Amino acid sequence: MPCKTPIRPSNLLRSAPDPLQAREALRLLRETLAGQAGSAQAAAQEAEWLLAHALGWPRSRLWSHGETVLTPQERSRLAQLAERRLAGEPVAYVLGETGFHDLTLTVTPDTLIPRPETEQLVEIALQLAIPTPWVADLGAGSGAIALALAAARPDWQVHAVDRSAAALAVAETNARRLGLIERVCFIEGDWCAPLVPGRFGLIVANPPYLADTDPHLAMLHHEPRGALVAGPTGLEDLARIIDTAREILMPAGWLVLEHGWDQGPNVRQLLETMGYQAVSGHKDFAGHDRIAIGQRRADPKEAA
Ligand SMILES: C[S@@+](CC[C@H](N)C(=O)[O-])C[C@H]1O[C@@H](n2cnc3c(N)ncnc32)[C@H](O)[C@@H]1O
Repeated sequence: MPCKTPIRPSNLLRSAPDPLQAREALRLLRETLAGQAGSAQAAAQEAEWLLAHALGWPRSRLWSHGETVLTPQERSRLAQLAERRLAGEPVAYVLGETGFHDLTLTVTPDTLIPRPETEQLVEIALQLAIPTPWVADLGAGSGAIALALAAARPDWQVHAVDRSAAALAVAETNARRLGLIERVCFIEGDWCAPLVPGRFGLIVANPPYLADTDPHLAMLHHEPRGALVAGPTGLEDLARIIDTAREILMPAGWLVLEHGWDQGPNVRQLLETMGYQAVSGHKDFAGHDRIAIGQRRADPKEAA
């Protein structure tokens, strides 16, 4: 009769056949992760990531070298990674990296794990005709948006701002590894405060936008609270950025913001009230209203 009690992965790997081949380790891992990963497909993908990471292999090698026997050190490394994942740690933190746009980024518990919906923000920003190639990413975290923009537009001068020195250190590490360190400038500070007024053609931001009572916070406790929570309503940081970005943008410069799925009407209203023109909302790849854009008028006081 199959055992219904969840098996700790370390036990599972300890009681696994010895010698243990890579393809058998993959099968055991896939079964073990099925409950944690959310779907069989996600479990299969995570099992490949974890095993490849434990062995120091590219994923493709798992298939071409499936008969390779794991050493005791590799078995123990794999058990430790699987333990962390089964304890609920996000797979990106367990691996220490994640994919974003066309980049692989180092992530640590000091940085938010970049989300797929933010890739849509990057796509929208890349389509805008901006009046000058000075660009700022406010709340850069791991550098996801800033580095994706810099990689796609070699002529843009990208400024990555964050108030977290620890997050900026990770973003700089990513920039160096991706060969983008000469093209992105990293600045510690509070939103627009450290930036030169009237100079930027594009400002992008994916700021904290959860209210401090949001029930989803319980599920997100591995990520830094300062990257997630804006205040009592969730709109506090978005409102501050919309207000202060007017001074930093040059005329006809664009502001592109990610927001919560139900915040679109409020964010667009804030943009209009604060005098932006060409305000519009955009959906992410999953069809949720997640991105708002607006353009600075020739004279920001015109419609304020
Ligand atoms: C939701 S995370 C986004 C990180 C990254 N842009 C991404 O999409 O993965 C928000 C980021 O804003 C930063 N942040 C929060 N308050 C800030 C402030 N007042 N000034 C600058 N950065 C801030 C946090 O440290 C965090 O890195």
